[in-house]
Amino acid sequence: QWGLNTQWLGRTIIHKETTASTQIIAHQAAQDNAKHGTIIIADEQTKGRGRMDRTWHSAQNKGIWLSIILRPAILPYLAPQLTLLTATVLAETIRSYTNTEPLIKWPNDILLNNKKTAGILTEMQAEQDQIQYVVIGIGVNVNQTYNELPQDVNLNATSLQIETNKDWSIKNIIQDLLVTFEKSYETYMKNGFSEVKQKWENSGFKIGENILIKTSRDQWEAAFLGIAEDGALIYKGIDKEEKRLYSGEIEWFQG
Ligand code: BTN
Repeated sequence: QWGLNTQWLGRTIIHKETTASTQIIAHQAAQDNAKHGTIIIADEQTKGRGRMDRTWHSAQNKGIWLSIILRPAILPYLAPQLTLLTATVLAETIRSYTNTEPLIKWPNDILLNNKKTAGILTEMQAEQDQIQYVVIGIGVNVNQTYNELPQDVNLNATSLQIETNKDWSIKNIIQDLLVTFEKSYETYMKNGFSEVKQKWENSGFKIGENILIKTSRDQWEAAFLGIAEDGALIYKGIDKEEKRLYSGEIEWFQG
């Protein structure tokens, strides 16, 4: 039905016409021993989840709403690398559908023309030093028109259709996305994080660029220095010291 050209990714696909959130189904399936590479796809989500308790609008057949169950043999603290890997995979896939270069905004937003077109929500179940499973939730706005997209005060949203003036086949994009994901995952497992880091840094903020860091409590200016092995954002603050950020948001700083 899905016509996937993958080896193991998506060998089992749980498809829902409508569901609250594919993340919820994924957690249940993983706890029921679903295999590495199992995928949950929904045509519509009624309670799509975003990062930081935000809602992710997931209208019927307007985008890609899917979750991937992985059982990677890596230490739990390295799980954020999978989010960064997914971001590079999304950037690569989206790039092949548009003439605009997608930009990755740390940690997990994919932007086209400065507007968000895709997001990633990674959730992990671990015990001590062992990952039980990781659920990677992927949301891509594909066929929404401008009026169909909720606009956020902080970050404008866009879709592939808005950026290209075309309707796209969601199934085709899912096929491409999963093939690219599988390849990148294999390379990552074999060669480690360095290639992902390189790809990420090539489509993300430029080293030295001024950024504005926002946490729930505070915001401050900094210079972007790169990403760390554990997925942290490395930056230099006004005090010229190198620091790391584990959760929060960054924006370009127009001083
Ligand atoms: C974000 O940018 O805040 C992350 C958005 C992640 C959305 C996807 S859609 C499929 C999966 N199911 C959910 O409820 N959320 C993720």
